[in-house]
Amino acid sequence: MTLAFSSVALWSAAAFWAVVAAAGQLMFAFYVTSFYGRHALAGDYAGWNKVMPHGYVAGDAWGNFAVGLHLALAVSIILAGFLQLIPALRQRYPQVHRWTGRVYVAVALLISVDGLFMVWTRGAVGGLTQHLSISLNAVVIMVCAVIALHHARARRFGEHRRWALRLFLASGGVWFFRVGLMLWLIIHRTPVGFDPKTFQGPFLTFLGLAQFLLPLAVLELYLRAERSSPWGRLGHGRRLGDAHAGHGGGDRRGHDGYVAAASVIGPLQPSSRRDKIKS
Ligand code: HEM
Repeated sequence: MTLAFSSVALWSAAAFWAVVAAAGQLMFAFYVTSFYGRHALAGDYAGWNKVMPHGYVAGDAWGNFAVGLHLALAVSIILAGFLQLIPALRQRYPQVHRWTGRVYVAVALLISVDGLFMVWTRGAVGGLTQHLSISLNAVVIMVCAVIALHHARARRFGEHRRWALRLFLASGGVWFFRVGLMLWLIIHRTPVGFDPKTFQGPFLTFLGLAQFLLPLAVLELYLRAERSSPWGRLGHGRRLGDAHAGHGGGDRRGHDGYVAAASVIGPLQPSSRRDKIKS
């Protein structure tokens, strides 16, 4: 009973978080498409500057191309990330999961290099500390992308899953930044801890780092809790996978609880079929 409850509680919390994050990120993609896409389709690239001060610079063809590419990649990475989170797709159509994964990794690398180019050649809002923190975010994205791909190619799916989750959270940094900033403004009802004109100040310095370090830290806690949970100790998804597939393991409570958890959660659970191969 306890066995099932603690694991179901952990996974249900993760599932709830994943659903909220997916919905929020899809809204972000909708905003990018509807605002920037609408102006681009109308040929009004200067309209981008209403939100992004360095969006369109007359005469800077390469820079403008980099920004347009960045926006297209932003929508792509969000949509690809959303697809990767759907467990049914991952389990029933592993080919789709593999190709979306390759696209995700390629887009993650490209958007990071493109973003670095934008920060350090065109200028961006905020000060040096924010430029450094978003650059660090870019480096973390690239490192996670390469390691996640490496483990997938080596068929170490347990490690692959952990690094793919890190990649997903690091890539969501810019989204976390916006959520954090909006929450801060809703709480205080006025800019506190930063200057809205220069977009600099201690709170934004903190948020620039927290946007990816905080979610990554929480993920490590989740992974640790998962490892030390009764089912995690039973074998980290591999035996869970066996149990789920009805191949034994012999723990009936584990089996029942796992089926219950799997039906509620999905996104962050180990992919039973693949973890069964190698964890
Ligand atoms: C990986 C996921 C990323 C997504 C989804 C994303 C999305 C966006 C979006 C939507 C904008 C337009 C600004 C807005 O409307 O709020 C933007 C701007 C920008 N992004 Fe990204 N971005 C990502 C990663 C990065 C990275 C890693 C860097 C830096 C290395 C970066 C650097 C920039 C810069 C410099 C701007 C222009 C901001 C300004 O004018 O000050 N982005 N990004």
